Amino acid sequence: MHAPDSTQQPDRRGFFKRAFATVIGIVIGLVPIASGLTVFFDPLRRKSSTSGAIRVTTLEALPIDGVPRKFPVVASRVDAWNTFTEVPIGAVYLRRTGERTLQAFNVVCPHAGCFVDFLPERGSFRCPCHESTFTADGKIDNPDSPAQRGLDSLKVEIRGNKEVWVEFQNFQAGHAEKLPIA
Ligand code: FES
Repeated sequence: MHAPDSTQQPDRRGFFKRAFATVIGIVIGLVPIASGLTVFFDPLRRKSSTSGAIRVTTLEALPIDGVPRKFPVVASRVDAWNTFTEVPIGAVYLRRTGERTLQAFNVVCPHAGCFVDFLPERGSFRCPCHESTFTADGKIDNPDSPAQRGLDSLKVEIRGNKEVWVEFQNFQAGHAEKLPIA
């Protein structure tokens, strides 16, 4: 008959201590990694955005003749990680039909996203991609146009009696309804 080995107990205790210390070390090491990943990926949860109305031009640039004129829309843009200041984010057609009466349209064709042209000789818009045509006030001109809706109108206002501000927005192409792109 053998006497119990008195050295086995301390060995086993030492093993468990080391295993426990290892697990605790791993957990503690994961905390800063998880925090770092959260900080790194957090911006992805934020939307790319521009906000509110944007100053596009002045009233002096718009004769009262109902002719649409194209203007770039320049604004600060925020995406997941960066803020870009004063970059072109799109373009609009503005037409002035009275002293304080304006219309604004996104230049993007609602059929498939090409930029439409205004043809002064015809007094209407035409899309170079698939020949959709639109009247000067943005409605579908030729009923055979593939576009399912007229040009996308935008909210426009005059501020300080001379500045023209537009709530710029892009919309999904290929639908009969105006569906904003977030
Ligand atoms: S993209 Fe304009 S008609 Fe197709």
